[in-house]
Amino acid sequence: MIPITKHLGRYFSLISLISVLIITILSNVGMNIFFTRYLQNAQRSQDQTIVSYVEDLAEQEGFTPLTLMGIEHYAFTMSAEVILEDPSGKVILGTSDPQGVEKGKTSREDYMDSSKYLYRIYPMVIKGSSQGSLLIGRPQSIFAVKEDRMFLLTINGIYLLAAMISLSIGFLLRHKVSGNFLRPIFAIQENTRVIEQGAYDAVKPVSSRTIELNALSDSINTMALQLKEQEHLRRRLTADMAHELRTPLSTINSHLEAIIDGVWEATPERLAILQEEIARLTGLMKDLGDLNYLESGEIRLQVQEVDLTLLVGSVLENFHPIFHAQGKKLEAELQEGLMIKGDKDRLTQILVNLLSNGLKYTNSGGRVQVILKRSPQGILLEVRDDGIGISTQDLPFIFERLYRGDRSRSRESGGKGIGLTITRALVEAHDGRIWVTSEEGKGTSVFVELPEK
Ligand SMILES: Nc1ncnc2c1ncn2[C@@H]1O[C@H](COP(=O)(O)OP(=O)(O)OP(=O)(O)O)[C@@H](O)[C@H]1O
Ligand SMILES: [Mg+2]
Repeated sequence: MIPITKHLGRYFSLISLISVLIITILSNVGMNIFFTRYLQNAQRSQDQTIVSYVEDLAEQEGFTPLTLMGIEHYAFTMSAEVILEDPSGKVILGTSDPQGVEKGKTSREDYMDSSKYLYRIYPMVIKGSSQGSLLIGRPQSIFAVKEDRMFLLTINGIYLLAAMISLSIGFLLRHKVSGNFLRPIFAIQENTRVIEQGAYDAVKPVSSRTIELNALSDSINTMALQLKEQEHLRRRLTADMAHELRTPLSTINSHLEAIIDGVWEATPERLAILQEEIARLTGLMKDLGDLNYLESGEIRLQVQEVDLTLLVGSVLENFHPIFHAQGKKLEAELQEGLMIKGDKDRLTQILVNLLSNGLKYTNSGGRVQVILKRSPQGILLEVRDDGIGISTQDLPFIFERLYRGDRSRSRESGGKGIGLTITRALVEAHDGRIWVTSEEGKGTSVFVELPEK
């Protein structure tokens, strides 16, 4: 493994090298094509000047040793190879070997070097009659001419310089760039270390101009918040659990002590109190066991077609006497014939839990309404009461195990704080969802939405 600075340094160097290489290759190829074309055009017009020059000389003075020398000179200044032939095709001047004619070289092949030069033939016409022809040779490649070669070398030298400059800039910048990345990464790393130690409040916000790093930091901070909440719930659950167990156990213990010490006689009434406490504990254990089973996802529902309207109606029927006895009203508004696929007993359990809460958390004279109707997503059951309501602090937690809003009051009413947890698990097992709206002192509405058959 290597540090990010080195990584970035390597990438920067590689990218600048590749880009300079590509520019060099492309511009060399381009220059070869366009420069050659430009040179050829320039040479053609130069050729014309040479032809006119030779024609003028021939017309005015004919080809004398002096005029031939003038032509040779002129060709040299134009960087051209010239071969002059008379009308019979015999060479009278070849600038590649000015003394060639005297040595008996009379054919154009004696002077031509086609591997190095490209020859163009121009007929010489003076006053309408042919005066032979002029062959003008030019270098095949632009590299053959020194000035052109120098021009190309200079351009490529500039590219090499550019490569070196961009490499050095990349080398210098790598610390700055990697610093920009690294600073937030280090801060995020520090946050995860803090979370690891459980100091969730010490998590600091990290600001970065990189979207991805911001998103990473945000999710880590959200995770810290969730962990903190989980931790809080876990502590509260342990405390609640201890409390739940301690109270009945100490009641049982003190009663038994008094009986053993002979202070109390073990009357059936006293033993009944003990049995009640034991039943309460057993009930709590059963509920917790039930909940674990429900939440494990292994729950097996006895699914059948259920007329929810009828089912709700019959549960309400059973509750009427209890409400009546406590001076509370129980009202219903049920849409007819709402069918779902579900477990009859579990659906009954959902309703019993919600109605028990409605009963428990309304004062005398209170009212609980049950509304069952079709909704866009399926069937909506609402259990609404005008009771004590739930505080905004408690509202997010009421579905947690053993969570009870007002502890003293719900203990008085015998609540274990597990009813809604079980209810939610049952609703979700039916592919439904449950939510609560409430206002402290005004009342509560629990909504259960289930998919229609
Ligand atoms: N209709 C309601 N009105 C006011 N508070 C409610 C209502 N329903 C639930 N709560 C609050 O939510 C908490 C959790 O409810 P839940 O039904 O899970 O537990 P419980 O009623 O206390 O005990 P149990 O396990 O016996 O049902 C309650 O303690 C209470 O504070
Ligand atoms: Mg309850």
